[in-house]
Amino acid sequence: MVKINENFLKLPGNYLFSEIAKKVNAFQNAHPQSRLIRLGIGDVTLPIAPAIIEAMHKAVDEMGKKESFHGYAPDLGYEFLRSAIAKNDYEKRGCDISEDEIFVSDGAKSDSGNIQEIFGLENRIAVCDPVYPVYVDTNVMAGRTGSYSKETEQWSDVIYLPCSAQNHFVPELPKETPDLIYLCFPNNPTGSAITKEQLQTWVDYANKMGSVIIYDAAYEAYITEENVPHSIYECQGARTCAIELRSFSKNAGFTGVRLGYTVIPKDLVRGGASLHSLWARRHGTKYNGAPYIIQRAGQAVYTEEGQTQVKEQIHYYMRNAKVILEGVKSAGFQATGGVNAPYIWLKTPDQMNSWEFFDYLLQKANVVGTPGSGFGPGGEGYFRLTAFGTYENTVEAVERIKNL
Ligand SMILES: Cc1ncc(COP(=O)(O)O)c(C=O)c1O
Repeated sequence: MVKINENFLKLPGNYLFSEIAKKVNAFQNAHPQSRLIRLGIGDVTLPIAPAIIEAMHKAVDEMGKKESFHGYAPDLGYEFLRSAIAKNDYEKRGCDISEDEIFVSDGAKSDSGNIQEIFGLENRIAVCDPVYPVYVDTNVMAGRTGSYSKETEQWSDVIYLPCSAQNHFVPELPKETPDLIYLCFPNNPTGSAITKEQLQTWVDYANKMGSVIIYDAAYEAYITEENVPHSIYECQGARTCAIELRSFSKNAGFTGVRLGYTVIPKDLVRGGASLHSLWARRHGTKYNGAPYIIQRAGQAVYTEEGQTQVKEQIHYYMRNAKVILEGVKSAGFQATGGVNAPYIWLKTPDQMNSWEFFDYLLQKANVVGTPGSGFGPGGEGYFRLTAFGTYENTVEAVERIKNL
């Protein structure tokens, strides 16, 4: 008799965005004439920049010719992309990361979900609360989180790092010592950022305790403030305690194209084993590489033209972020984020819980956002709006919210 992985049965409810989609579809079916504005899911809306499209076209043509056809990509990714990453994302920022410490992948969701596989099941994970749900759910699937309490909405074996208005949505060091620490900055969902000094505290802590930080920097391109690090390797000692995850989704609009990468420094050793070697082994066994065409597209992001064009797009989204932040504040909401991240995190009014406010906003303003409680119990009473809509829709959504 086949036995299933019973850990999957422990997962409460649906994946957050499936749940939202169900509610939105039901509303739209019942009110076909309503024009919904979606500021919920963190998906981009601008088309891919011309310099990138041009590189993709060229690569497509290469694939059609015998002399320039490419089959399986190298396990770690093509050298042309890894060297562009090492130079632009690390060397230029003074970070000591070499191209052979970079693993090209199909995005940060899979990497952030898969990375836990190289660690033993007895490790304790620490996550921010609220948090991007993938970190916890993938550890649940692996069987690392203990039992779930419906009352507290927490897992018995997970260390939660509360992120609230009190600590400006940046976690403090925990009392219990975690083995794996997931940090994501600029943060989804709160839109908060961490200063270099604050991140250094975490790096020093991880080195002292022998923990490993899994640092998700998917929103690095949205940083506008000086003292906010773009990479954890800007901190001293990060090479011996940190793995970094990056994505091309939010900086270059690759959500439907799929490209990302993970950095594991060769100095990162635990239990006598190189984590770089373990991930290389895992990658080589379970992954056959991001497509050549897409890796060429990724390379084009780093060209002068590519950089100018993607920066314009980020500027466009950040203008939306400003419209939302200033708009909701002027409407009397308490709101943060939107300065170094494309997310605005607002406190729900009148003691409404997150899903009540979701329904209220959907019905009264026909605006779709994301209930904060979907990111963990610490998100209850909060609501996330994204800056990824069109400018016109964003302005209209904010006007509708002001008129509530
Ligand atoms: C924090 C965080 N990490 C990773 C991802 C996924 O990135 P990708 O599209 O590269 O899989 C997201 C997407 O929303 C995210 O918010």
